[in-house]
Amino acid sequence: MMKRFAGVALVFALIGAAGCWLAAPSFAAAAKPAAFKLTPAILAEPPVKVVAQAPKGSLHDPYAGNAKVAKEGHQLFFHYGCNGCHGGGGGGGMCPPLINGVWIYGGSDDTLFRLISLGSTKMQAAGYQREALENVIGPMPQMGLLIHHSSDVFKIITWIRSAYQGSPDHKYH
Ligand code: HEC
Repeated sequence: MMKRFAGVALVFALIGAAGCWLAAPSFAAAAKPAAFKLTPAILAEPPVKVVAQAPKGSLHDPYAGNAKVAKEGHQLFFHYGCNGCHGGGGGGGMCPPLINGVWIYGGSDDTLFRLISLGSTKMQAAGYQREALENVIGPMPQMGLLIHHSSDVFKIITWIRSAYQGSPDHKYH
């Protein structure tokens, strides 16, 4: 009798342990992204490096709403040749518009930063899927390879926000 009870207890203990083990990763995934501090040193790093170390959802534009930075961001948009595909005003050309209320992978600062840094192929390899389809003719190249400082990506995002013309409900998602 004791022996049988011990056996049952052991089975329950094992199920319990397995349950914890299985539950642990999903708890971690559900947890809020850890605060990730954009220090001046990190802003000076290449965007590809920052994407690799920042938890998903933790990147927020430190220049948001700054009109002077937005102007600089627009110059950088031309400097890096984004205008060739997205049009000088971001309204699209042969590639999707950046200033309407439709975001292909989502419209958060974090998602835009990653897409600009990684390009479509690596973005999808990182688990992101197209939620919307605009006039997509091909993948977005990995522009992050040409951009030396993460601050430049944020400045471009600052400009994209300032040029936005879609519904206020969809400015960030
Ligand atoms: C060779 C053409 C090309 C260049 C150059 C290019 N992009 Fe893109 N971009 C694309 C394509 C194509 C997509 C759609 C990606 C997809 O569907 O996977 C896109 C998507 C985007 C999106 C998301 C748009 C949305 O509606 O969700 C942003 C933001 C963006 N690009 C910013 C930039 C920035 C900033 C630069 C310059 C640093 C740049 N792109 C350079 C082709 C380009």
